Amino acid sequence: MYGILALYMEILCNFAVFEGGDGSGTSTQLAMLGHKFAALRPHSPVFFPTAEPMEGPIGRIIRSALKNNLALQPDTLARLFAADRGEHLYAVGGITERCKRGELVICDRYVLSSLVYQGIECGEELPRSLNTCFPAPELLLFFDLDPQIAQERIQGRPSLEIYEHLEFQKKVRERYHALLGGYREAGVRVEIVDASQSPEKVAAAVWSLVSKMPIFKKMGNEE
Ligand code: TYD
Repeated sequence: MYGILALYMEILCNFAVFEGGDGSGTSTQLAMLGHKFAALRPHSPVFFPTAEPMEGPIGRIIRSALKNNLALQPDTLARLFAADRGEHLYAVGGITERCKRGELVICDRYVLSSLVYQGIECGEELPRSLNTCFPAPELLLFFDLDPQIAQERIQGRPSLEIYEHLEFQKKVRERYHALLGGYREAGVRVEIVDASQSPEKVAAAVWSLVSKMPIFKKMGNEE
């Protein structure tokens, strides 16, 4: 439906991403995984959890647009997400540097979020072209959740962001499903996690997938 992704030439080892619609629990699961790693140390790889948009200056502009405090054209937002990602990957202490020195980096949202969300807003072409140069993760976990349930989870938050409404989130889920196949074809290990389960059950599923990454074998430790 959306064509072959065929985006990536390079797969970055030791790099995994969590993706999903708003309210699918990716941030909660990344935090829970952090606790798991803390309990395992020193018998686990160094774990670096991170998220997009970042906390820095570009991320702050993005956040204020997401909160509807700043009116930006959708194309501008697409470019800002890509610029933020470039810094995230290549700045000193960034994702590529850490992966290459043997840390396990897991990022809450990455290129696929742009292909999905900005793809809906701006059409397929712009986010695709802005993100062609970035490496792919070796593992992509998609947290799959009925948008209606996700929306019920989100409703309790103090304020909603521009994409956090049911009609948009239905398109988000559909587009994620349509694009996952292209990642598989590009050689990324793609796993779908049932995000409707309890946080503990989801965490167990996440751990069973993450702990199969080659970095654990290198440590001779595949708990
Ligand atoms: P989210 O990751 O859910 O963080 P928080 O829980 O702190 O709100 O929110 C980020 C929002 O930004 C989410 O709606 C998805 C959107 N987004 C894009 O539209 N494109 C992107 O490239 C990224 C990384 C995020």
